[in-house]
Amino acid sequence: MTNHEQKILIVDDEVTIRRLLHVKLSRQGYHCEEAGNAEEALDKLTTYAADLIMLDMKMPGKSGMELLVELKASYPNTAVIMATAVAEANLAIQCMRLGADDYITKPFNLDEVALNVEKTLEKRMLEQQIKGYQEHLQQKVEQQTGEIRRLFLGSIESLVFALEAKDKYTAGHSRRVTEIALVIGRELKLSEEDLENLRWGSLLHDVGKIAVDHFVQNKPGKLTPAEYEHIMIHAHVGAGIVKHVVNEKVVEIVEHHHDHYDGSGLHQVIAGEDIPLGARILTIADAFDAMTSDRPYRPAMPLDAARQEIRRCIGTQFDPVVANVFLKTDMSCTTSENDKVAVINM
Ligand SMILES: [Fe+2]
Repeated sequence: MTNHEQKILIVDDEVTIRRLLHVKLSRQGYHCEEAGNAEEALDKLTTYAADLIMLDMKMPGKSGMELLVELKASYPNTAVIMATAVAEANLAIQCMRLGADDYITKPFNLDEVALNVEKTLEKRMLEQQIKGYQEHLQQKVEQQTGEIRRLFLGSIESLVFALEAKDKYTAGHSRRVTEIALVIGRELKLSEEDLENLRWGSLLHDVGKIAVDHFVQNKPGKLTPAEYEHIMIHAHVGAGIVKHVVNEKVVEIVEHHHDHYDGSGLHQVIAGEDIPLGARILTIADAFDAMTSDRPYRPAMPLDAARQEIRRCIGTQFDPVVANVFLKTDMSCTTSENDKVAVINM
């Protein structure tokens, strides 16, 4: 940037001093404007984007020091040089603490003033360049962190789909559960952030099944209490798997997705509204999809029967508010060749 592009505002109540500085700094190539007091200066700055302000310490009305505080708050990127009398050295140091870039003492040595202005503007330009680099760097880091997180989540998602694909009974389960959970979440007017957490919680909720014995999971008959207990470890194991790549809210959704509203679930430690809302939504979506899918021990239930079962468990297994919202939706499912696709009409 050449001097010609740089703008200076000279704020001093003494017209002769303003003129003196104006002439000198204009000769150096700067564009200058003047203000006789604080109000005039603030007014000028609304239309004049000064790079540097020469600010007199003592002015009638608002002092230079008071104005300095306001300027630093409203125009943090504008450099300020305070003009003080020699006897005011202590005040000048105070101004530096308040954010002034430099100070010059009266009576002025105009060549010194010009040098101070040049140095201050140079310093300001360098600071802005560094700030620009830092912002750029930060943006890059955030971008790459997001990319790494997406890759991590994507790989866990793939692991879930791979686990599901291994057996025909669970293929597509997480995707369908996610669709149903999001319909309920939207109906409950969840924020975009909560919906995103719900989406990840639903997609990943059964990842812990990797620790479940395949024979037990696909047992064609009724489970023994010990087998049931073994299967149910998947919620806790799943939370442990995903906690390294997702936020606390998603982990809680996975951890509590089998909790019963009345607290009667296996090894349950919280109940009712203490169960995260995302988990209370997911548990209904999960139960509905499980009931309407073929299982090794029973064929798929008709949709109406599944809805009836959810209605029956309101207040015990399911949150009444969430369940009623679910029951108001019309979820009809069709079966394609290898996968079941949830068609959801509101
Ligand atoms: Fe589950």
